[in-house]
Amino acid sequence: MKNIKTFKTQDGSIGLYNEELNEVYHSKFGAKKEAYEKFIAPALILNNRSLDILDICYGIGYNTKCAIENFSNINSIDCIEIDNELVSKSYEFDYDEKINQIIKDNLQKSDFIHFYIEDARSAIKKIDKKYDIIFHDGFAPHKQSILWSEEFIKLVASKLKDNGIYCTYNHSKPVLNALCKMGLFLGQTIVDNKIIGTVASFDKNLIKNPLISFELGKLNTKSAITYKDKDLNLSHEEIIKNRDNEVNNSKLQTLSGYLKTVVK
Ligand SMILES: C[S@@+](CC[C@H](N)C(=O)[O-])C[C@H]1O[C@@H](n2cnc3c(N)ncnc32)[C@H](O)[C@@H]1O
Repeated sequence: MKNIKTFKTQDGSIGLYNEELNEVYHSKFGAKKEAYEKFIAPALILNNRSLDILDICYGIGYNTKCAIENFSNINSIDCIEIDNELVSKSYEFDYDEKINQIIKDNLQKSDFIHFYIEDARSAIKKIDKKYDIIFHDGFAPHKQSILWSEEFIKLVASKLKDNGIYCTYNHSKPVLNALCKMGLFLGQTIVDNKIIGTVASFDKNLIKNPLISFELGKLNTKSAITYKDKDLNLSHEEIIKNRDNEVNNSKLQTLSGYLKTVVK
């Protein structure tokens, strides 16, 4: 795999590191652990129904594999990933043999898992279906903002059922703000008193640790200005430059200004 190195994470599972982007695909604390804690556990509340799942940024499939392992009634999993090589090798990475075999079988002949091997910005437009669970696992916005723009998130949110759950590791303010603008209720994924991700749903009863008003207030500050990509075709650099300009010209309160008014 060009520019991609492997490393052993702390739970023994293999993680990937992209030299060109200087970005990891998986947490050094555990690739499997990360999939469970950030993507599966927050959605286990839905385990009593037949599930349609969308896995955005499949990579080598930890989130999909972990879903198969933990959800008892999966109807379908649609996976989006731009790197065909990762997808085609994904069943070779150490995991429960039966689950790797399911991935391999579905790659050869799609049964309940379907793969979109392309840019998520084009794949999401083709999808005419709503999901119970959506995993959103793109690289961090400062490395790859294209999958965190308000417009992309709007399309993702449009694919979520009214009683569905969206899960991501991302809890940056621009991303929370974009989700909030779509009318989603937001919650924090917390493990060992640390925020490790975000859950969002149109049904507030599905949100375990809702964002308190103090946190929601931060979304009205400059720091939460969203990434913009009106026609879903800008480069990462253009998106960052445009956002920097918007932040510099914005009349919104700064985060530090907000914090001072709140703690007064
Ligand atoms: C943080 S990793 C995801 C790890 C993955 N969930 C796993 O379990 O291995 C981000 C993934 O996004 C993919 N990616 C990057 N740009 C993309 C794009 N424009 N559309 C779809 N996938 C993309 C990368 O190839 C990489 O596999």
